[in-house]
Amino acid sequence: MTSPLLVANWKMNLPPEGIAEFVAALTRLPEGIEVAVAPPFPFLGTFAEEIEGRGARIERAAQNCSDRESGAFTGEVSAAMLRQAGVSHVILGHSERRALFGEDNRLVGRKLRQAIGEGLIPIFCIGEDEETREAGRTAALLERQIVEAAEEMENLPDVLIIAYEPVWAIGTGKNASPEMAAETHAGIRRIVGGISHETELVILYGGSVTPDNAASLAAQEEINGFLVGGASLSSEKFGAIARAMRQMEENQPAEG
Ligand code: 13P
Repeated sequence: MTSPLLVANWKMNLPPEGIAEFVAALTRLPEGIEVAVAPPFPFLGTFAEEIEGRGARIERAAQNCSDRESGAFTGEVSAAMLRQAGVSHVILGHSERRALFGEDNRLVGRKLRQAIGEGLIPIFCIGEDEETREAGRTAALLERQIVEAAEEMENLPDVLIIAYEPVWAIGTGKNASPEMAAETHAGIRRIVGGISHETELVILYGGSVTPDNAASLAAQEEINGFLVGGASLSSEKFGAIARAMRQMEENQPAEG
């Protein structure tokens, strides 16, 4: 069984308090929860030094990786390089990469395959935009995001982490209600179950998670953790979200 997972996605930001202060404030995270932070690439080293120096129980994550192994791909960072740099998790298919950098389901699938092949743990992001939700086409879109990516992968991993991030909830202060998130997560579980019964599925919710709404979202059995943007830039808010997750230890994910 996998522990509840809390992931910070700093995006192209750094915590205003500074990396050292951020880590120093998070040396006593609640037991039973796994925590990972994804700083921008150039700060992975500084971040690693801080967590090692302070003995903080925080994993290092990256925000992206290449779908290629190595070679003349200017500006790309390979999964193997991340692994060598001590990164354990990688966020792939984030809606900002899809919307602003043209990543489609198949490219995301190839990145997932690379990451898994190199022993990284991918955090596979999916989610619908507002128009799709209003048109009642959310389930069909999520299914396409999962199925097309899965077609590019050899096999699904033993444990698959999916982050459900509705685009309309990202950075808007408008989170999905706990019920809506739980219902969508149950749908995602059915879709993945249709591809593989062997995969243990961990589904994170992301989109305007804050210390104020974390406890009510965490109370949903279908929610196995969070992917947090804005609120993850403050150690105070991020720590409060981690504490709100303590109740999740009982909400262990079922087989997918
Ligand atoms: P916010 O928490 O700022 O809404 O961002 C969510 C997100 O995109 C995390 O990947």
